[in-house]
Amino acid sequence: MNDWQVYRRLLGYVTPQWPMFSLSLVGYVIYSLGNVLLADLMQFLLDSLDDSVRVTSGIVSSIAYRFFDNSGLGRVEFARIAVPVAMVTLAATRASGFFMGNYCMSHVARTLIHRLRCQLFDKMLVAPSIYYDAHTQGALISKITFNVEQVTGAVTKALKIVVREGLTVIALASYLLYLNWRLCLVFIAVIPVIAVVVTYVGRHFRRYSRRIQSSMGDVTQVSGESVSGYKEIRLFGGQRQQHERFRDASQYNRVQNLKLAFADGLSTPVIQTLLALALATLVWFALSPDILRGFTAGSLVAFLTAATQLGKPIRQLSEVQSDIQRGLAAAEDIFAQLDLEEESDHGRYEVARAAGAISVRGVSFAYRGNPDRVLHDVSIDIPAGKTVALVGRSGSGKSTLVHLLARFYQPGEGEILLDGVPLADYRLANLRAQLAMVSQHVALFHDTVYNNIAYGALADRGEDAVLAATESAYARHFIEALPRGFQTVLGDDGGGLSGGQRQRIAIARAILKDAPVLILDEATSALDNESEHRIQRALDNVMANRTTIVIAHRLSTVEHADSIVVMDAGRVVACGNHQSLLQEGGLYAQLYHQKFSL
Ligand SMILES: Nc1ncnc2c1ncn2[C@@H]1O[C@H](COP(=O)(O)OP(=O)(O)O)[C@@H](O)[C@H]1O
Ligand SMILES: [Mg+2]
Repeated sequence: MNDWQVYRRLLGYVTPQWPMFSLSLVGYVIYSLGNVLLADLMQFLLDSLDDSVRVTSGIVSSIAYRFFDNSGLGRVEFARIAVPVAMVTLAATRASGFFMGNYCMSHVARTLIHRLRCQLFDKMLVAPSIYYDAHTQGALISKITFNVEQVTGAVTKALKIVVREGLTVIALASYLLYLNWRLCLVFIAVIPVIAVVVTYVGRHFRRYSRRIQSSMGDVTQVSGESVSGYKEIRLFGGQRQQHERFRDASQYNRVQNLKLAFADGLSTPVIQTLLALALATLVWFALSPDILRGFTAGSLVAFLTAATQLGKPIRQLSEVQSDIQRGLAAAEDIFAQLDLEEESDHGRYEVARAAGAISVRGVSFAYRGNPDRVLHDVSIDIPAGKTVALVGRSGSGKSTLVHLLARFYQPGEGEILLDGVPLADYRLANLRAQLAMVSQHVALFHDTVYNNIAYGALADRGEDAVLAATESAYARHFIEALPRGFQTVLGDDGGGLSGGQRQRIAIARAILKDAPVLILDEATSALDNESEHRIQRALDNVMANRTTIVIAHRLSTVEHADSIVVMDAGRVVACGNHQSLLQEGGLYAQLYHQKFSL
């Protein structure tokens, strides 16, 4: 995307807010005209002292003489009243214009940012798994917090300054042209020079801004890790390492910010010097006898006042450059995120409640960025309502297989069918409504226990159903013992619960979902034997009329499965029931006997 496309796209967010934007423009027009008229007031003042000059030579004086009665008053006497009155009126009007312009522009900018931030967040809710695999959590969070804020700076400041000061420059420059166009050429001559400086510096700004953004991602990442892993850091003496990683990230950020400040700090004095040079040349020309003849004392002062006033907006316009560059760098990144592909959801097939027959046919799969296959030609058939256990060493691809089932990833070869329909043909939400999964890493939310169980689409299941599910998950007892029972608010990611308690809440959530396919991926690994046994018994009821895939380390929990699929290094190496597999004496028997020899 080039700059212009980024600008255009940002402006696209402004278009729906045109009423506010127009109000703001009106405010800024009032402000910039106020600036011009205040310069012009100098002419009124000075010309009143010189009897040889026409009284109505300036803009304000013409208006004053035209609309207000000056009969019986001398020139100076009239000016004595008119100039202070005009001064206050103009200043007050200019101030209201300033307020109106600024506030309305902030309104536009803040609304823009809000929409951008929400869009970015919503994008995360539909981003494919590979998006999460490719970024650190810190980088993703800092996009929403830091990058969006950078755009805010750019949009708020840039819109305000560019529009307000731009209009002021136009108004003052037109006034100067009106007073004496030839003298004005001196000023116009420095503008290309300033433009060159601004463009050159701007390129550097952009580069530093990009680096600052990515370093903020690192800073967020290291701090996040250090918060969630504070116990490991202390137990393994990782303070020094974390300290260094954080210091390096922050140091890099500091250096890049300083480079930006250097370029920024250097450009302002350079531009100021250029402007002073132009002004000096202007005075030199203005005082030449030729040109002086065309001026009254008043109009000369007005001219010089306006010319001096022109310096400030030009300087501000060049200064806002750094904010704009930061904003554009951030906007580029945000738009790139917004343009990323969403989870593919092209299927149109829907089913109210699937029977639950699953058929995995010749599936091979490799994670992106790693050519080695994690699954090789895997075929499994699970009739509706049956329980299948997946066993195998860790890393053999069991979790990967169930993630394919939930369409978190697409198989590279082969296909998976649910009730004879390829998964890709289902509407994604409909497919996932057929699955209840308790995964290896249980995620809990910062909310009450009740809401964690009746989560998302389950929120309307009713209290009785929630209690029943909790009972089946053998969780009711411990939940009721919590300080506020079901209304206890869990900490960050279920903080305050034991591993087994977290798992039981997750199991309750899955039971409450009452989906035709239940997937338990090491769902009871953190439980003691007794709790596991009890859950197993409770689950027997739950599993009775649905397809269940159980992945478990403790082979005793899978002994009673209808069939057992043994996986090794991404391949299915054996299939059968407990007895037959033991007799075969393969990997299953090996894993089974290991358990008892340990
Ligand atoms: N998100 C991922 N990106 C890349 N590789 C992964 C990812 N998740 C798992 N793997 C790799 O895939 C292989 C199988 O992992 P997994 O399916 O989790 O095994 P299991 O559940 O049987 O222990 C492992 O070698 C692991 O390193
Ligand atoms: Mg696993």
